Amino acid sequence: MKDQIQSTQTEALAQIEAISDFRSLEDARVGILGKQGSLTKLSAGMRDVAKEDKAEIGQLLNAARQTITASLDAKKEALQSEADAKALEGIDLTLPGRSVHHGSLHPLTIIRHEAIGILRRMGFALADGPEIEDEFHCFDALNTPEDHPARNEKDTFYFDSGKLLRTHTSSVQIRTMEGGKPPVRIIAPGSAYRRDEIDATHLSVFNQLEGLYVDADVSLGDLKGTLEYFLQEMFGSETEVRFRPHFFPFTEPSFEIDVKLHAKGQAPKWIEVAGCGMVDPDVFDSVNGNRKDEAYSPAGVTGFAFGMGLDRLAMIRWGIKDIRLLIENDTRFLKQFA
Ligand code: PHE
Repeated sequence: MKDQIQSTQTEALAQIEAISDFRSLEDARVGILGKQGSLTKLSAGMRDVAKEDKAEIGQLLNAARQTITASLDAKKEALQSEADAKALEGIDLTLPGRSVHHGSLHPLTIIRHEAIGILRRMGFALADGPEIEDEFHCFDALNTPEDHPARNEKDTFYFDSGKLLRTHTSSVQIRTMEGGKPPVRIIAPGSAYRRDEIDATHLSVFNQLEGLYVDADVSLGDLKGTLEYFLQEMFGSETEVRFRPHFFPFTEPSFEIDVKLHAKGQAPKWIEVAGCGMVDPDVFDSVNGNRKDEAYSPAGVTGFAFGMGLDRLAMIRWGIKDIRLLIENDTRFLKQFA
């Protein structure tokens, strides 16, 4: 028995030694240690061993099993590192790795999030409206007469149905007031469309953010304070803001708002960022007409509205010289905002 154990072990070790692939290694393991394996069969002979020899033979069998198992393990490891080395052959491990490119938010998205954040802190809620509008919500309800140049086919995209691509987000003012009673304090960011010649400062689609605040006692002072605060949050607390009298059909009085820009190496200059004004009573009247009530009676409520170009704000913030960069999806431009 002892000799058999010895020779089985010697044979097994020699067999394992000669192995050069995983498959044969597994076969060898089964052939030696498996149910029908050579060593397993030997172990079965234990029952015929004389009682006084059992302990010694048992130990020898165990030792053989351990030695063989260790040899199998060692071979497996050797084969594995051989395989690894082969896989790495011809690969230069000192080459720098490939970097992962992280995407980033588009500058317009960054500006929109920021603008919404500031105005929400002041109590404005988000409102929405369709980009394909009717003439009523885009013009008539906003007190814009039939012959106003903005209604011209040369300035506005019309569909055959008579609908149009909204030329400003001010239509959301009307829809919001039609849908609910005062007080109203909303902002509506979104696209607006105009048939402009495309150049460094004009696109046929741009991004506006409209605001509307209507309540019992809204004053011009509220309008000024709100927009000054907004622009100083946006561009820094030192930012100078100027209200310049202007005309819009839907507000009276109306203003354009400029901020003073201090670009490096240039004389400071005023740049227009928004239009605003006190809601014209005619606008309230036409909303009431549509609502069939007097919820927005000009005797009971006043309000202010503003609309600004988010593209313009982004261009000011980052000194972007050409608005077309905002829609060209050139990664050399976009990755600067990562
Ligand atoms: N709708 C105006 C524009 O597109 C901006 C504006 C909005 C002006 C609200 C006054 C009040 O230029």
